[in-house]
Amino acid sequence: MKTIEDLKRLREQVQSDTRLRYTTGTKIIIGMGTCGIAAGAREVMSAVLDEIAKRHLQDVTVTQTGCIGMCEKEVLLDVVRPGEDRITYGKVTPELVPQIIAEHVVNGRILEELVVGKFSE
Ligand code: FES
Repeated sequence: MKTIEDLKRLREQVQSDTRLRYTTGTKIIIGMGTCGIAAGAREVMSAVLDEIAKRHLQDVTVTQTGCIGMCEKEVLLDVVRPGEDRITYGKVTPELVPQIIAEHVVNGRILEELVVGKFSE
């Protein structure tokens, strides 16, 4: 299993590779509180970074957040496309990551069946 340090290094590497524009890009935010990590957030983060690197996606930043009080829905992954609602996906597994990235991050189609929250930014 990758450590938090490994993931941090990987994230920094992917982000420098993708020439980020922080103000305009899409954000992916992963819940890395205690329950998130217990539910597999590290593996989800790793899958997200792999997929971004594989697709050579630019303008995508990956960050983490702590506990937001939805333990039973972990792993939580938010996608925020510029000018759109913040969409929270629940019970995300590494296997679901390529689909979320292809459909929502790249094509802007929300995977309604996986959504647990929508917030206007
Ligand atoms: S640690 Fe899970 S909701 Fe706070």
